Amino acid sequence: MNDAVPAEPLPTTRWESADNTGFAAHFRALIESGADIEGEARLADALLQRGSRVLDAGAGFGRVGAALQARGHHVVAAEKDPDLVAMAAEHYPDLAVVRSDILALTPDLLREAGHPTSYDLVVLVGNVMVLLAPDTERRVLATVRDLVANGGRILVGFHPVDGPADSARDYPVEEFLADAESVGLRLQHRFGSYDLAPATNDYCVAVLVKG
Ligand SMILES: C[S@@+](CC[C@H](N)C(=O)[O-])C[C@H]1O[C@@H](n2cnc3c(N)ncnc32)[C@H](O)[C@@H]1O
Repeated sequence: MNDAVPAEPLPTTRWESADNTGFAAHFRALIESGADIEGEARLADALLQRGSRVLDAGAGFGRVGAALQARGHHVVAAEKDPDLVAMAAEHYPDLAVVRSDILALTPDLLREAGHPTSYDLVVLVGNVMVLLAPDTERRVLATVRDLVANGGRILVGFHPVDGPADSARDYPVEEFLADAESVGLRLQHRFGSYDLAPATNDYCVAVLVKG
C-alpha cells in the first residue's frame, strides 16, 4: 500500500461526510454468506483483453479490483478512506492499493508508487460518482480520462436518484453525461444493470470512451 501525499488540500467527499460504518459490516456479512459480489467485475472483465491494466478508482475495500485481479488483470486500486484501505489489506493482501483521493491520482504519483500511468479500463463503480466531494464530478472524470490508454474505457455505475447512502447526491444521467462530454468523454454503452438490463433511470451503468 502506498500513501499518496496531495500537493493541495482536497475537498471532503460526500462519503467522508457520512456515517458509513454499515458498508463494511454489510459486505463482511455478504462475503461470509457466500453471496455474489462480483457482478461489476464480470462486466468489467468482458470489456477487457486478457492481462489488461485496470485502475479501480474509489475501490472501497477492493472487491471489484480483487475479482479482476483473480481473472488475470493487472489491477491498481485507489481509495481514500483509511478504514477501507485497511479492510482491503485484510481481505485481499495481494491487491495493490494506493491510498489517495481520485483527484490526486496523477501519472507522476502512480509512477512513483511503481504502477502504470495509463490503464485499459478505469472502474468507477459502486456509487463513487454520487459520493465524490460536491462539484468535483468533472474534475474526477477529467482526472481518470488522463489515465485511460488510447482505446481504453471507463466503466461507471451509480444510482442516479436515492443512492444507498444518505450522503449520496442525486445525479440525473443527463447531467452525468453532460459532465462527461464536457471533459471529452463520450458514451459508448449504457445499461440499467451489470447484467445488461436495458437502460433505466433507476441505475446507470455507462461505458465511456475518449473523444
Ligand atoms: C459505496 S463505496 C464503493 C466502493 C467500491 N467501488 C465498491 O463498489 O465496492 C464508495 C467509495 O467511493 C470512494 N470515494 C468517493 N469519493 C472519492 C474520492 N474523491 N477519491 C477516492 N475515493 C472516493 C469512497 O471512499 C468509497 O470507498
